Amino acid sequence: MYQLLKTEGRAKRAKFTTVHGTVETPLFMNVGTVGAIKGAVSTEDLKELGCQIQLSNTYHLHVRTGDETIRELGGLHRFMVWDRPILTDSGGFQVFSLAGLRRIREEGVTFRSHIDGHRIFMGPEESMRIQSNLGSTIAMAFDECPDALSERDYVQKSVDRTYRWLVRCKEEMARLNALEGRVNPQQILFGINQGAIFPDIRIEHARRIAELELPGYAIGGLAVGESHEQMYRILDEVVPYLPQDKPTYLMGVGTPQNILEAVERGVDFFDCVYPSRNARHGQLYTHRGKINIKNARYEKDMKPIEEGCRCPTCQTYSRAYIRHLMKANEMLGMRLCVMHNLYFYNHLMEEIRNALDQGRFAEFKRQTLADMDGNER
Ligand code: GUN
Ligand code: ZN
Repeated sequence: MYQLLKTEGRAKRAKFTTVHGTVETPLFMNVGTVGAIKGAVSTEDLKELGCQIQLSNTYHLHVRTGDETIRELGGLHRFMVWDRPILTDSGGFQVFSLAGLRRIREEGVTFRSHIDGHRIFMGPEESMRIQSNLGSTIAMAFDECPDALSERDYVQKSVDRTYRWLVRCKEEMARLNALEGRVNPQQILFGINQGAIFPDIRIEHARRIAELELPGYAIGGLAVGESHEQMYRILDEVVPYLPQDKPTYLMGVGTPQNILEAVERGVDFFDCVYPSRNARHGQLYTHRGKINIKNARYEKDMKPIEEGCRCPTCQTYSRAYIRHLMKANEMLGMRLCVMHNLYFYNHLMEEIRNALDQGRFAEFKRQTLADMDGNER
């Protein structure tokens, strides 16, 4: 399934084949939390933007419109009209980031819906059942993401429980895949490494989850308040303990700089809301750093967002027009900004893959970081 094509130091260039086709790594997953990218970007647009794989959230689709309904309608791929891979996050993280009041026990987590406040229980089995109903290509394990500032004792207890939850996820997924009439009976499960900023807890956990021989592994619990340097140090320490012949996915990361540093440390999958969220606020990525399109300096600027960018927005529209739309709160402004940023991220990954193919990733990384160091241009 995972075919390693080339390495440069710890950086990996590979292909990953799934029931929904093959993806080229390192890659970026575009975040469509509720089965759509925020900013009125359609699935047709996504193909044009070079998106290989989409990410959706178990929790959000469970509370609205409901995974049972989506299963009846043929699963998430058919519902969204997307035939390439979809990865669903398990709900664990969303419960911790969205739900106010919650109670964690061995069985799972009880919390209140962010939509109408009703009580919901989710544990490993529930998460696997929901993801099975959605029929995503890759299901994520149900985990707890402890606060980056948690005490060591709490983190150790939490990680032990997350390990037991993973064993339950694996059993439940095997059971579900064997049932008649599943949307995607070949659904695969990725495990998630946790341990906050304690390298020894993370390494011990990585060793134990690697023994479960899952088709891929994620690193969770990062980019949740620790410094970038701490995050890079954890990657330096933990990635070598995850199987090198399988994908490594760094959850929720990050800036272009974070991605370059993590690729160098052996990561192949990324997802992040930054490109779409920042675009909705007029913050646009370029190879010379981020610009804010609402800035007065773009009022009469007829150049594209980035010269040489081949995204649909830059093919046609000027900074002046996009600034005008954003100032006027026109939906088209947001859509054009989101399209540019998503293209930028997917294209950056393509540039990274090309550099790895040609054995010049180190030089590409150095040059790109130096160029992006500038701010507004
Ligand atoms: N997304 C970002 N971080 C995490 C994490 O630690 N766990 C899960 N399930 N999703 C995430
Ligand atoms: Zn562009």
